[in-house]
Amino acid sequence: MNKVLIIVTGLLLPAIGLAAGGEYAYPDDKIEIDWSDKAAMQRGARSFVNYCMGCHSASYSRYNRVGEDLGIPEDLVRENLIFTTEASGAKTKVGALMKNAMTPEYAEQAFGIVPPDLSLVARSRGVDWLYNYLRGFYVDEIRDGLGVNNGVFANVGMPHVLADLQGLQAPKYQTVTDSNGNEHEVIVGFDLIKPGSLSKSEYDQTIHDLVAFLDYIAEPYKQTRKNVGTGVIIFLLAFLVLAYFLKKEYWKDVH
Ligand code: HEC
Repeated sequence: MNKVLIIVTGLLLPAIGLAAGGEYAYPDDKIEIDWSDKAAMQRGARSFVNYCMGCHSASYSRYNRVGEDLGIPEDLVRENLIFTTEASGAKTKVGALMKNAMTPEYAEQAFGIVPPDLSLVARSRGVDWLYNYLRGFYVDEIRDGLGVNNGVFANVGMPHVLADLQGLQAPKYQTVTDSNGNEHEVIVGFDLIKPGSLSKSEYDQTIHDLVAFLDYIAEPYKQTRKNVGTGVIIFLLAFLVLAYFLKKEYWKDVH
């Protein structure tokens, strides 16, 4: 009986830990990334170079590799994905790493913090977190300069760079009592107070695609790895059958 209890507690503990971690984060939605949907990742790549690379780099990825993986011809990569120039003034080459031109010193001055490289952020934060973070900016007048806060990343130093698309939202609060009897004001929803150029579902789709792209750059080999894995299993199964008949053949005369 005791053993059963220990096992059950052991199974439950991680779940309790998880619940505590994200208890008051809003929004708290989940997404599925379809790794075969290259079109979504292409749209995400476009959003990334347009809206994020002003401040962030993806310095483990090369433009031409991204083009190859996502099925974008090189001339279109050059036209649609590369907006930076080299020190000489010439357009960044298609084989270059996806780095932006901002120096850390300038970033430090402008934001008080250097915007992190986003190459691996889908792995460090997870795709659900990213999806919620990019949909979680809300108006907060108290925050000098930025004017926004974030329901998932409190007091973040990043401005709401997609406000033109999403519009501006105000938080709806509710008071909750935690297990220790303490009361907290938590965000339970948003009201759109200034519409953006996209509807809510269009904006959600745009963020979904952007997160799909971030997930791809964090692990470009994932698809290949899965395919190789399946291939190996099929080979092993086929080999098992072969080995079984071979064994039968060899032992035939012994018995
Ligand atoms: C104007 C500059 C700027 C732009 C443009 C910008 N960001 Fe940021 N971003 C920042 C700064 C500064 C931080 C660091 C915030 C902090 O740690 O308080 C940040 C942090 C982040 C983080 C959190 C990283 C982590 O793990 O802590 C993510 C994710 C992120 N940005 C994604 C994006 C995406 C996606 C875009 C494009 C839609 C984007 N950012 C555009 C400035 C920018």
